[in-house]
Amino acid sequence: MDASRELLRLIGGYQVSQAISVAARLGISDALATGPQTLAELAESTGADEQALARLLHALTALGLYTADDGSFANTELGAALRVDVPRSVAGWARFIGTGSYWQTYAALEQCVRSGETAFSIVHGEPVWEYRAKHPDEQEAFDAAMTSMADAVSDAVVTAYDFSRYESVVDVGGGHGRLLSGILERYPTIHGVLFDQPDVVAGADTERFQVVGGDFFESVPAGDALVLKSVIHDWADAESIEILRNCRRALPTDGRVLLVEQLLDRSPDPVRTALSDVNMLIMTGGRERTTDEYRRLLAAAGLTLVDTVATAGTTHVIEAAATH
Ligand SMILES: C[S@@+](CC[C@H](N)C(=O)[O-])C[C@H]1O[C@@H](n2cnc3c(N)ncnc32)[C@H](O)[C@@H]1O
Repeated sequence: MDASRELLRLIGGYQVSQAISVAARLGISDALATGPQTLAELAESTGADEQALARLLHALTALGLYTADDGSFANTELGAALRVDVPRSVAGWARFIGTGSYWQTYAALEQCVRSGETAFSIVHGEPVWEYRAKHPDEQEAFDAAMTSMADAVSDAVVTAYDFSRYESVVDVGGGHGRLLSGILERYPTIHGVLFDQPDVVAGADTERFQVVGGDFFESVPAGDALVLKSVIHDWADAESIEILRNCRRALPTDGRVLLVEQLLDRSPDPVRTALSDVNMLIMTGGRERTTDEYRRLLAAAGLTLVDTVATAGTTHVIEAAATH
């Protein structure tokens, strides 16, 4: 192996991220959904400068997202996954990561690692949730990004975990309720409740479930199963225990708290999970955790870890019951 060459390839990751993010924001894959287009047609349909777009397309074609035959560009399988209208689309996430406060925060990784402070607060002067509450455009882009990521995870979770024993499910910090919708699709008799910050639930499609706006540091709506997907990893231990204590209070006897998270010690994609841990370090001050770390966290909130169920993706369902 040529170590320098391999390292240079890894170092260039930032260029790849930004190129794909711009492709998503321009909507290149969407423009190609109905068939190949020439450079001039693509420049017209995406509103881009033709010469600059040609160079971006050259790089994206080399990366495998598009093909270029006889002056026409077309989606490959990879490029098609960037369309907004396909199942398990990653367009929302690709659009989100390359812009605004998220992209800027990565520039402060060094300061974060040197000081231990959360990079987002170093750069933007306040925690991420407070910042987004004041920047509705970023809040909306983030919610869309989470919804886009939740598609794949939702399918994996409802396939791997049996919700049939529950009459009611609360999606705590559920964003726009993508996971909850997936659960209700498969289990139509379950009563679903979406719980998130008032500004966030305002954007949810409320036909299928009840919506409650609030603050999980104050209280959580009651339900047989309280699902928290990608929520606890956002928080340091002290805040996580507070959220989980409020879940414990809202739990009936025989109820369950279900965390949907990646496990550092059992991830099928250790690189992705470790990088997700770095992402939590700089964005939210949270962390990815091992099974034992979750067990201890749950115990501190009066909950006992009773099972972990692997899904087809990188997440596990961590099932907990009230400690008696
Ligand atoms: C990483 S997102 C996960 C969203 C969703 N569960 C998913 O996986 O797509 C974390 C969620 O926690 C919500 N959240 C943050 N602080 C909250 C609070 N104090 N009370 C209720 N929800 C909160 C955010 O609005 C956001 O939707």
